[in-house]
Amino acid sequence: MHSVLITGGAGFIGQNLVHAWRAARPGDQLVVLDALTYAANLRSLEPLIAGGQIKFVTGSINDADLVLRLFEEHRFTRVAHLAAESHVDRSIVDPEAFLQTNVLGTFTLLKAALDCWRASGTLELARFLHVSTDEVYGSLLPADPAFTETTPYRPNSPYAASKAASDHMVRAFVTTYGMPALITNCSNNYGPYQHPEKLIPLMIIHALEGKPLPIYGDGTNVRDWLHVSDHCEALMAVIDRGRIGETYNIGGGNERNNREVVGQICDAIDGAFSAEPGLASRFRSCPAAANLSCRSLMTFVTDRAGHDHRYAIDARKLADELGNRSSVRFEDGLRQTIRWYLDQETWWRDVTSGAYRDWIDKNYSFRIAV
Ligand code: NAD
Ligand code: DAU
Repeated sequence: MHSVLITGGAGFIGQNLVHAWRAARPGDQLVVLDALTYAANLRSLEPLIAGGQIKFVTGSINDADLVLRLFEEHRFTRVAHLAAESHVDRSIVDPEAFLQTNVLGTFTLLKAALDCWRASGTLELARFLHVSTDEVYGSLLPADPAFTETTPYRPNSPYAASKAASDHMVRAFVTTYGMPALITNCSNNYGPYQHPEKLIPLMIIHALEGKPLPIYGDGTNVRDWLHVSDHCEALMAVIDRGRIGETYNIGGGNERNNREVVGQICDAIDGAFSAEPGLASRFRSCPAAANLSCRSLMTFVTDRAGHDHRYAIDARKLADELGNRSSVRFEDGLRQTIRWYLDQETWWRDVTSGAYRDWIDKNYSFRIAV
């Protein structure tokens, strides 16, 4: 049984990980630390918080006193560190927040963990998983081989640079202080609870609302899509059985360009409207409600500055060493994800309208004392 800290557990991947961890290891004690930024959402965690199955702490990984108090009180033996500023477009507009959280916050967390584990003589038993991204490796040309764990770092966006810096700090802690840490570098996730600023939920919601589908540049940029449930399984495998000090790439083996992805979303929504006449009265502005294709909304807009052309992951190390492979076919995962956003209209309307933000500020603006 472990005492586990999950940072960023109210974010997209974090809350999926909390549920996956609870299901896989019901005996572990979970503490979630999250600053509840605009990207956070607690709706799916509320039953667990109310039922005492997890402890939720509102606070920042940059708050050294709070982090240290949490380590002293809960004697964590596992840390899954996901807290981050995660959106590339925001990092272009406001890079400073990315340095604060992703670089300095990771350092604060590493230092607290090391100090606490050393003081209690538990360094040998503990594990710190740093959840990072494939964007640290930079951009590939169409014929380039996929990123491996030894591909040199060439981050291009402020977000990618901040994650690269945090990876380097983790590595330095391993080498210099014997920190029992592991790093994962993962490709693009999709699935339930993803914030509507990211490509797939943004396109689903815009299509349902009859708004333009803004494809950056010519839409030929390629991403490797991984269902979030596969990512969570991989994270648990790495923290359990990965070798300390190692990096593991995680990918879905689903390289698609943005044009294809948006086209597939349009076709799936058109198909859902044909099969379910009730959708037309719920989403009257969607072209599919008038028997038109959502593809009519596809719009090519100014490219993202420094837009990486292609990411691709070679995940053989994870498969060979830990026996972990992604299992969700992109077309199936995408259909399930569209179904989720169709069923969870209240969730995304609250997020996009700001109603959820008002609610969270009213109910969770206090810090739970440790
Ligand atoms: P997200 O933006 O949905 O969630 C981030 C969470 O971190 C939010 O709940 C936010 O409130 C919290 N947070 C932000 N600053 C904080 C701080 N200072 N202290 C405590 N909590 C803070 O992000 P996500 O998509 O769930 O990504 C989670 C992690 O996985 C990130 O580290 C990201 O870099 C990495 N990652 C994401 C993807 C992806 O496709 N989404 C892929 C690879 C790696
Ligand atoms: O590769 C892993 C990374 O994937 C994670 O580390 C990041 O946290 C995550 O946000 C994601 O980064 P991307 O920039 O690849 O994801 P995003 O959803 O923002 O964009 C995916 C692609 O779609 C990218 O090529 C930009 C394009 N795009 C995005 C948006 C939001 C558009 O064409 N239009 C859009 O409106």
